[in-house]
Amino acid sequence: MIKPDGVQRGLVGEIISRFEKKGFLLKGLKLFQCPKDLAQEHYKDLKERPFFPNLIDYITSGPVVCMAWEGDGVVASARKLIGATNPLQAEPGTIRGDLAVQTGRNVVHGSDSPDNGKREIGLWFKEGELAQWESVQTPWLI
Ligand code: TYD
Repeated sequence: MIKPDGVQRGLVGEIISRFEKKGFLLKGLKLFQCPKDLAQEHYKDLKERPFFPNLIDYITSGPVVCMAWEGDGVVASARKLIGATNPLQAEPGTIRGDLAVQTGRNVVHGSDSPDNGKREIGLWFKEGELAQWESVQTPWLI
C-alpha cells in the first residue's frame, strides 16, 4: 500500500514501477480513502503501541493506493524492496532508503507474512476487484 504521503508526494508511479520492474504481477490496484475502522483493523497488532493514534491519523489523512502483487517469494522480496521501517536505517536502493526520512512518513506498507498478505488483501479489496490474468512475457527463468 502506498501511504498518503507517497500519494501526495507524487511517488505512486515510481513505487509501482519498482515492483513491476522486479517482475511481480499486479493483480489489484485502487486509490482509496481508508476509513478509521479499517485502518484500526489493519494495524490491530500495534494498537497498544504509543504511536498507534498518530499512525491511524496518518493512514486516514488522505488517499492511499492499495496493491496486490503476485510472484514467487513476493512477500519477503517486497519487504526487501521496501526497506527498514525507519527510513534512515533503510538501505539506499530500497524505496524507504531512497525516498523517505521519517518512520512516521515512510511512504509504503508491505505485508510481513503470506498469511498477513491474505488477511490484508481481504481487508482492502472487495470480491471481484482482483484481476485474473497471467503475464504473456517470457516465463520465469529458474
Ligand atoms: P511496523 O509494522 O513495525 O513496520 P513496517 O511498516 O516496516 O512493517 O509498523 C507499522 C508502521 O507504524 C510503520 O510503517 C510506521 C509506524 N511506526 C511509527 O510511526 N513509529 C514506530 O516507532 C514504529 C515501530 C512504527
